[in-house]
Parts: sequence; structure tokens; C-alpha cells
Amino acid sequence: MGGRPAQQWSDGGAARVADWLDAAAALPPASVDLVYADPPFSTGKARTGPAGRYADTWPSLSGYLAWLRERVAATIPAIRPTGSILLHVDWRTSHRVRVLLDDLLGPDRFVNHLVWSYGLGGSSPRRFARKHDDILFYCIDPGRYWFDPPRVPATSNRLRGLKKKATDVLDIPSINNMAAERTGYPTQKPLALLDVLVRACCPPGGVVLDPCCGSGTALVAAAAAGRVPVGCDMNPRAVELARRRLLLATAHAGSIP
Ligand SMILES: C[S@@+](CC[C@H](N)C(=O)[O-])C[C@H]1O[C@@H](n2cnc3c(N)ncnc32)[C@H](O)[C@@H]1O
Repeated sequence: MGGRPAQQWSDGGAARVADWLDAAAALPPASVDLVYADPPFSTGKARTGPAGRYADTWPSLSGYLAWLRERVAATIPAIRPTGSILLHVDWRTSHRVRVLLDDLLGPDRFVNHLVWSYGLGGSSPRRFARKHDDILFYCIDPGRYWFDPPRVPATSNRLRGLKKKATDVLDIPSINNMAAERTGYPTQKPLALLDVLVRACCPPGGVVLDPCCGSGTALVAAAAAGRVPVGCDMNPRAVELARRRLLLATAHAGSIP
């Protein structure tokens, strides 16, 4: 898979404290197979958990989109021609982020609008309960991008016990309060989700970059699946957690700890 950007990061770690923008500028061109970015969603409030906190307030939607555009644009040169980007957002911005990605990459680079259906959470008497996030999947070259369709257990009686190719709706529960993988970092994503995404969109041995790594879920999934994890986060507490989880993941390579 060629260059391994993780080795070129100044402090030698696969996860480091940095702004996504600076981290992107430090990456060699065409060195990353998959970018998975799970930025703040512009919820308008700080996200807090027992193991950390991050700010999620922008003066306006256009301010948020400008922030995101600058970082995605700086990252694109680091993606290989066979590579892809998965941008994880939600109902607040997905319609605008899709347009942003169309602008930066071209509408013909759109591959999927994945729906992560997670189940948990409250409901409202005034609308349908919001129970999914949006993951926008774009490639660099429609004729060359790497993809290995994930397989999930079939649910129909006819195929019971067999597997079928996953659809663009990924039914994966969010992390429950008792889950062993729970770190206490706010908005931590489940390893089962990242395992599917990493295996589907990054070749074995390839490089996965998560520029807003938080507690390191994508990095851990990458390491466990035999991919090379590279990540950063502005929050030192997040990077500390990610590094700790990565140490465990590399000790158990091949299985999700
Ligand atoms: C939604 S959380 C990521 C959660 C992560 N996927 C997980 O499973 O733990 C977003 C993260 O983006 C980080 N962040 C915010 N602005 C950033 C920036 N400019 N550069 C790098 N990270 C940033 C926050 O500190 C936060 O940890």
C-alpha cells in the first residue's frame, strides 16, 4: 500500500493532538486509502461525557460549512486515486454537506448516502423520532475506487442463516450504557459500525485517516482489521483515550477488543 503516513507524524503516534487542517497539510499526497471523518455536528451546545468534552457551536450554518469545507479540501490531495471519503454528519447538515462534497469532488464521485440507523434515544409527539445519522460516501475515481461489499445476516425466512450484501441502511445499535467498549467520551461511535465501514472501504493493509478521532473508534477498528490507523483530534483527552484503546487493539490484532 505504499507510504505509511503514521510514521511521518512528528510525535510518532498513530493518533496525535492536532487540528484537522494542520494534520491534513502534513500528509504526503496520495497516501491515504480511506478518510473517515466524524466531526462535530453543529448541535449548538458543548458535548460532554464522563471522559471528555468538546465544543460544537458555530456562529451560523454557513460558518460551520466554511470550517468543514476548508478541512475537506485540504484532505483531498492526501487520498489515493483508489481511495474514498466517508463524512459522518446528521439531519442538521447532511443536505448541505452533500452539496459541499459535490462542489469539492464532483457529483459523479458520489457513491452512497449511508444511513446509520441506531435505535436508541427519545421520541417526540411532534415528529417522527430521529434515529439515524448520515454517512456520505464519495470516491476519488469512480472507475477505480476500492470496495468490498459487506455481508450481513439475511432476515427473510427463505435466506435464514445465510448472509446477504448490506444495503445503504446500516442497522447497528448505538453503544449502550453497559457496553465494554464504552469509554465515556461524548458521541463515541460503535466499533461494529466502524468495522463494517473500514472493511468495506479500505483494502487490507491500507491507511485509514480519522481527522476528528475522538476516542479513536475508527482507528481501533482499522488496527483490528489489519489496516493502518492515522488520526488526530484537537482535544488532548480524546487522543489519550484513542492511544490507550489502540494499544489494546494492536495487542489483539484481528479481533475487536
Ligand atoms: C463526533 S466527535 C468524534 C467521535 C469519535 N468518532 C468516536 O467514536 O469517539 C468529534 C471530535 O472532533 C474533534 N474536533 C473538533 N474540531 C476539530 C478540529 N478542528 N480538528 C480535529 N478535531 C476536532 C472533537 O474534539 C471531537 O473529539
